[in-house]
Amino acid sequence: MLFDTHAHLDDQAFDVDRETLLTQLPIEGVGLVMNPGCSRASSLAAIDLAKKYDYIYAAVGSHPDAADEVNEEVLQQYHALCLENPKVKAIGEIGLDYHYEDIPRDIQKKAFRAQMALAQELGLPVIVHEREAHEDGMKIVEEFPGVSGVFHCYSGSLEMAKWLIARGWYIGFGGVLTFKNARKALEVAESIPIERIVLETDCPYMAPEPFRGRRNDPGKLYRVAEKLAELRGLTVAEIQAITTENGKTLYRM
Ligand code: NI
Repeated sequence: MLFDTHAHLDDQAFDVDRETLLTQLPIEGVGLVMNPGCSRASSLAAIDLAKKYDYIYAAVGSHPDAADEVNEEVLQQYHALCLENPKVKAIGEIGLDYHYEDIPRDIQKKAFRAQMALAQELGLPVIVHEREAHEDGMKIVEEFPGVSGVFHCYSGSLEMAKWLIARGWYIGFGGVLTFKNARKALEVAESIPIERIVLETDCPYMAPEPFRGRRNDPGKLYRVAEKLAELRGLTVAEIQAITTENGKTLYRM
């Protein structure tokens, strides 16, 4: 059984066939899925999916791309949604993205800190999206020693991964591991303790080879498990069992 620890099944890319796909996934061996929110609207959609499908869980949060929506009212709503819905297992996805910078850095940092504080208050893990913002990301992580979770679609160095793991964090890997130019991610996936690795699709994005460029979905996660098995010298069954267990520990399920 595979655990897709980061999938956006509420994305409009799935509007055409969501029900068929979501009915099929458990039959294809995907036994658990975490669907994080990217905004207030998608957090609500994630909860709706979690209510409808046993194997889907939800997280609530505003992605750095939606950092400008984070205010007292939104934070209070996230707080209430976590308390009302037992299938909300994390705050996310939250973080920093300095690649496009559509949202100014100060606003991103403010939203990230506010949602880290919410996770601290609720005692929940967080799902962090951090792209080209390693220094500020680590600084904010350090400000909240009581909060940990997962750095998803990991793009940092081996040194930073070790630093995070020492603070109780997990490292998420997806389709990038199967790409030809993935040298840095492969080095991290090869070297860090296997107990801290979780698998994810980040679908509909980041489809693994040989599906690269197409719509991704949790049914393609087996390709990432195969690649990690090859890297670590373990069987695919062992990788599935270990990473599923890791995901359950991460999200306290
Ligand atoms: Ni995501």
